[in-house]
Amino acid sequence: MHTQKNIYSPAYSKSMKYFIYGRPVTGKYFVGREGEIEKIHGILSEIPVGGGNNLALIGLRRTGKTSLLKNLRFDFNGIVPVFMDCYGIPSQGVLATQLVNAAIGSYVEKTGDGAYRRKIERAIKQKTADILSRISEAELSVTRYMSIRIGLKERIDQQQLLDNALNYIETLAKEKDVYFVLMLDEFADVAIRWGVEWVKRLRGVIQHQERVFYIFSSSAVTYMTELVYSRDSAFYRQLTPIKLGPFTADVVKDYVRQRLLIGEESLDEYVRLTGGFPDYMQRLGHIIMHTCGGRNVTLRDIKDCYEEMILDLDSEFRQLFGRLNEKSARYGEIILSLARNSRPSGIAKDIGMSQSSMPKYLGYLMSVGIVEKREGYHLTDPLFKSWIERNFSASVQRH
Ligand SMILES: Nc1ncnc2c1ncn2[C@@H]1O[C@H](COP(=O)(O)OP(=O)(O)OP(=O)(O)O)[C@@H](O)[C@H]1O
Ligand SMILES: [Mg+2]
Repeated sequence: MHTQKNIYSPAYSKSMKYFIYGRPVTGKYFVGREGEIEKIHGILSEIPVGGGNNLALIGLRRTGKTSLLKNLRFDFNGIVPVFMDCYGIPSQGVLATQLVNAAIGSYVEKTGDGAYRRKIERAIKQKTADILSRISEAELSVTRYMSIRIGLKERIDQQQLLDNALNYIETLAKEKDVYFVLMLDEFADVAIRWGVEWVKRLRGVIQHQERVFYIFSSSAVTYMTELVYSRDSAFYRQLTPIKLGPFTADVVKDYVRQRLLIGEESLDEYVRLTGGFPDYMQRLGHIIMHTCGGRNVTLRDIKDCYEEMILDLDSEFRQLFGRLNEKSARYGEIILSLARNSRPSGIAKDIGMSQSSMPKYLGYLMSVGIVEKREGYHLTDPLFKSWIERNFSASVQRH
């Protein structure tokens, strides 16, 4: 339980800094990442002068990809940012609709061209036959927009719809002399589901675009790394990778020192337990602040609050573990085994599985960012690892 009494005491003024988690952070809650932001801004600044490049933002879960995207500045001439969360988008038709609507919304917001939105709204109210008969009078982008709506109703080929949507955005950009930067967050969630052929076709559309740029972002680290570097990838040598890791100890310590009364030894433990993951840095701080208020934070406090943080994450980890087990019980078994083994041979022996089938399972777990390879195989998320140890201690310690 969090005891909240201290947080409302007079000692907490408006200028007080808290900890924020569960949503992207901005302002004084967004720290670090100077190098990554500078690199991205450098590339974006080349767009209006004919340069620019498509980017891949790659980082494990909770490392702050979405926050980074939300903190980019687009104050370069005529660049319109469009943010799209691809996670769980059911079909290409839905993605197509969301993208065009988001593009129009962002365009109008950035340029103040409300007249364009009214044109679209007028076109929507007209009957289909009227629009088609008056096609030559309208701006090309408006007719393209309408053909997407008509295509949606007539349930044309889903991929064609998405192609049309991306082409619409290019047309709008040319017509209005602007550039779009589409930030496709959680890109791998749709890319893995829709498959290699889909990615190829997407690349086919994108390579002909002159005014639409892309930032593909995802926590499926291996998938994204292959998208960038693999010779078989449709995007081979087409994407500039930006990698996002946990914070360095110094960034975590600075952030925490500004908010808590805490000594060096406790800070070291704080860094160790959170692994420098931005999300965990914030969560642990939030719990400690509620528990300790303004008093000195001891090592004991850190350990107790850490246990509470694992409890808070319980349902999330349970869901993740459950989803993997639904795919195959082998995934769950491998994860339990990973808590004590890092060699495929050890894992295979441990769970009674042939070593030749290990690469397939480990490969999937790596492609979605749950497992990483560094001197053997490891769970990437320190909290998930602790959760496994706490919940399956009997099986983890069996051997
Ligand atoms: N630059 C930052 N400075 C401080 N805190 C941060 C920063 N980036 C992220 N965080 C913290 O981490 C949390 C998760 O960040 P965010 O949602 O941006 O990560 P993500 O990589 O997009 O995660 P996911 O893979 O789950 O989508 C935020 O709610 C915030 O508490
Ligand atoms: Mg995110």
